[in-house]
Amino acid sequence: MVAQQVSSWLTAQALPRTAPAVRCQARERSAAIQRRTRAKQHALSPASVHFQPAKEVGPVLESVAHADSSDSFARVGWHVDCEAAVNEQINVELTVSYVYLAMYSFFHRDNIALPGFSAMFKAGHEEERDHALLLMDQQSKRGGRVQLHTLLPPQPDYSNSEKGEALYASELALSLEKLNFQKLRHLHEVGERHNDAQLCDFVERELLEEQAQAVKDAAELVARLRRVGRGLGVYEVDLELRERYGDGVQN
Ligand SMILES: [Fe+2]
Repeated sequence: MVAQQVSSWLTAQALPRTAPAVRCQARERSAAIQRRTRAKQHALSPASVHFQPAKEVGPVLESVAHADSSDSFARVGWHVDCEAAVNEQINVELTVSYVYLAMYSFFHRDNIALPGFSAMFKAGHEEERDHALLLMDQQSKRGGRVQLHTLLPPQPDYSNSEKGEALYASELALSLEKLNFQKLRHLHEVGERHNDAQLCDFVERELLEEQAQAVKDAAELVARLRRVGRGLGVYEVDLELRERYGDGVQN
């Protein structure tokens, strides 16, 4: 009997405390539902859409629709300074290629007979020509126009009584590679000046790294030629170059 009275008392005491807790949970659930509903409504409202293609593409579509057939359809953000700088670099690469072509022919003469040097300069001629083609592709990709300039004819003879033809030509080649490296850095600066990330990336990825290595290789050749002197030493270096580049003869 006493136990029943205690149980009834506990139940009576518990009820007033449980009812507000249930109401509190119900309020929290309701608030959570309202928050989720507001979030969905915000996500669907026009003000929350950051990219509105139909609206933003309008001016671009206008320029594309009215572009003259003589204009590039692809050109976007290609500054005229970048276009001119790429054309200048094409001329630099072709000029260096032209000089290496003359060196290839010179060292292939019967009275010079250094086929390793001839082959090395032939490879250099092809490499610089390929760089020019890369730049031409870059120009076309960005909607620019390739403008080829006049190439000055290189000297036909690389004889030098003091240094010998191998060292003389190699020092000239090193100078050209160093100059080319400076020109590429200038091209990169033009890209930076106009915030053209694609041009900067192209110069870094396709040209600058390889050019730095070309300068190093040319410098090492000059160092070796200075060490071995003229005569038999040059012959030994030529043998090594022949192993690396072949005999340079055009089949
Ligand atoms: Fe090059």
